[in-house]
Amino acid sequence: DSASPLMEQLIFFHDHALLILVMITVLVGYLMFMLFFNNYVNRFLLHGQLIEMIWTILPAIILLFIAFPSLRLLYLLDEINEPSVTLKSIGHQWYWSYEYSDFNNIEFDSYMIPTNELTTDGFRLLDVDNRIVLPMNSQIRILVTAADVIHSWTIPALGVKVDGTPGRLNQTNFFINRPGLFYGQCSEICGANHSFMPIVIES
Ligand code: CUA
Repeated sequence: DSASPLMEQLIFFHDHALLILVMITVLVGYLMFMLFFNNYVNRFLLHGQLIEMIWTILPAIILLFIAFPSLRLLYLLDEINEPSVTLKSIGHQWYWSYEYSDFNNIEFDSYMIPTNELTTDGFRLLDVDNRIVLPMNSQIRILVTAADVIHSWTIPALGVKVDGTPGRLNQTNFFINRPGLFYGQCSEICGANHSFMPIVIES
């Protein structure tokens, strides 16, 4: 479930695109099915300028209904609105480390809790020893980089997915609109323990 306005918009766009996809699939499926019942009576029909014009331009117009909302979202995701706190996350093989550069200079590493050390209420392969603590109802800027290979800082509920690349500093932002724990995982194939560097935000 979404926990940020951007993820809400992403879900709306997904539903919108899926609806168009269903309409196209039903129409094309119907046309292909009806082909079986064609008895080929139009022996002298060789061309039809009008219908070819329509079935060339119509798909292009339909695609615009996906393209424009998609571009709107793309630029909306990049918008930075006066962040009240900045979190820097650095990907390592295989853990994340975090820095609150403008808040008491807090720095810490965040490792996955191994299965054999898990408490009964913990999530296997998803819980970490040190969580990120962030306020809800505030604009948060996140800076992502990596120390060794490419990692990806990804939290589905917040609509955030940013690559951490060595030598580069990527920026994005999010807004958490409810309290809770939000889980994420690395989303770049970064080596043997790629699956074992989860992210947890405590809001
Ligand atoms: Cu880090 Cu995959």
